Amino acid sequence: MDQEQKGKNGQIPFPEDNYTHNIRKLGERKLDRRGFMKMMVGAAGVFAVSTLPWGTIAFNELTGIKKKSYEAKKIADVSALKVGDAIEFSYPGEHDSALLVRLGQNEYKAYQNACTHLKCPVFWSKEDGELLCPCHHGMFDVHTGKPIAGPPKRPLPEVLLKTENGAVYATGVKRYET
Ligand code: FES
Repeated sequence: MDQEQKGKNGQIPFPEDNYTHNIRKLGERKLDRRGFMKMMVGAAGVFAVSTLPWGTIAFNELTGIKKKSYEAKKIADVSALKVGDAIEFSYPGEHDSALLVRLGQNEYKAYQNACTHLKCPVFWSKEDGELLCPCHHGMFDVHTGKPIAGPPKRPLPEVLLKTENGAVYATGVKRYET
């Protein structure tokens, strides 16, 4: 036994062969049904409280109940888009791909164009007058964004628009409305 293993006064603080001196064997590991239920209720409570903020955030995000505020962003000059044509842009983030379609002299519609089935890019078919997804023949109504053919079940999120000073602007995103 070297000096390091000994206490301050050179004494070993407990008998050398008893390294479990701090475990009280009687009752320390006893867990009856009531104790187990208390522990489970406590664990469930801790879990519920710790996950509550994430659940709230996810709920708000999916339902759009908590309105986000968006900055207006210019998409294109009116003169740059003929009736029946479409132009791609991104909104609100640079990776949020979207599509603006000019349906009439003063009628525009825009949607985020990641397909609501498996995220393939939806494109505007001028010939068909529909928004099409090439991956699994998904089709969306350009006036509402609702799916009308193929596997998609949810509408495309609509990008809200305004026209001002000869240009079209994106002003917000309407999410997951049916
Ligand atoms: S990804 Fe668009 S229909 Fe499947």
